[in-house]
Amino acid sequence: MSCTIIVGGFFGDEGKGKVVAHIAHKDKPVIISRGGVGPNAGHTVQVGNKEYGVRMVPSGFVYKDAKLCIGSGVLVDPRVLKHEVESLGVKGRVFVDFRCGVITEDHISRDKGSTHLAKKIGSTGSGCGPANADRVMRLSPQAKDIPELAEYLLDVPKAIDGALKKEEVVLLEGTQGFGISLYYGTYPFVTSKDTSASQIAADNGVGPTKIDDVIVVFKAYPTRVGEGPFFTEMSAEKSDAMGIQEFGTVTHRKRRIGSWDGEMAKYSAMINGCTKAAITGIDRIDKACFGLTEFGKLSKKAKDFVKNAENDIGCPVVLISTGPELSQIIDLRDEYS
Ligand code: IMP
Ligand code: MG
Repeated sequence: MSCTIIVGGFFGDEGKGKVVAHIAHKDKPVIISRGGVGPNAGHTVQVGNKEYGVRMVPSGFVYKDAKLCIGSGVLVDPRVLKHEVESLGVKGRVFVDFRCGVITEDHISRDKGSTHLAKKIGSTGSGCGPANADRVMRLSPQAKDIPELAEYLLDVPKAIDGALKKEEVVLLEGTQGFGISLYYGTYPFVTSKDTSASQIAADNGVGPTKIDDVIVVFKAYPTRVGEGPFFTEMSAEKSDAMGIQEFGTVTHRKRRIGSWDGEMAKYSAMINGCTKAAITGIDRIDKACFGLTEFGKLSKKAKDFVKNAENDIGCPVVLISTGPELSQIIDLRDEYS
């Protein structure tokens, strides 16, 4: 049996999507199930020269033999889901827990129309905050109440339990990042739910004793979208000059860029119960590392960076992403198993 959680260690957009997709191809899970808030999250996966952005479907969809589930803690926007299922051609593989909260047009207009959420916090305008508020007030519809979701309904915890009992591999993918957790992030500049590994387990109805590994994904140069403190932020002039520019998958806003934050990495690893770490964007530390797939070929500068990060995190760095494409990754997991 093997159940692994993958979460973001900084402020989101650490490259979890790519890490999940890589692990899926290697470990062949029967189920990839998504936790996290809802369609406010965007995951990007690049395969060959094709780039996919997903907001509802698990980013492991590029691995074709897994059931793709959405856990009961996640908010579902039926319009976004339908669009993705059709455009990605994953019909028949996608399942929604029957208890998921549902985002309505009203939630979206309340999110976009709220000065507090849209302006002060810088929300994504996807309706998640108001939908979670309604859920807490026990006003929200659930997936089982919506006819257009009928074809997707599943008891996700039961499906996961069945797989684990058969010793099969299950991946639970988190969304967002540690720094925007409602409980542990930079409140009030956070999202509408906890984003740590425990929450991702709860979102999928998987008890803590069933989790074997928690992989926390860190980005060599962390980013943040929306408002709120960002302790290691650099000026846009500086990041532009370094050739680092990123735009949000959901809102297309320009991401704020910072340098490595060892304190945050350490704290985030602690609360997430990190067992293994992944680092993305090592090619930004040293361009010569772009696309490499062997640790031995990394430059001294990149290796020193990884060593220092490992010290901060307190766990082995077992995955090092060297570029955006799926195959551009160094996988050291066998050496630490
Ligand atoms: P909301 O979750 O749409 O209410 O947005 C609240 C804050 O969380 C804003 O600063 C958003 O930019 C940020 N946020 C929400 N989801 C993500 C994500 O998936 N990646 C990065 N930032 C996010
Ligand atoms: Mg994202």
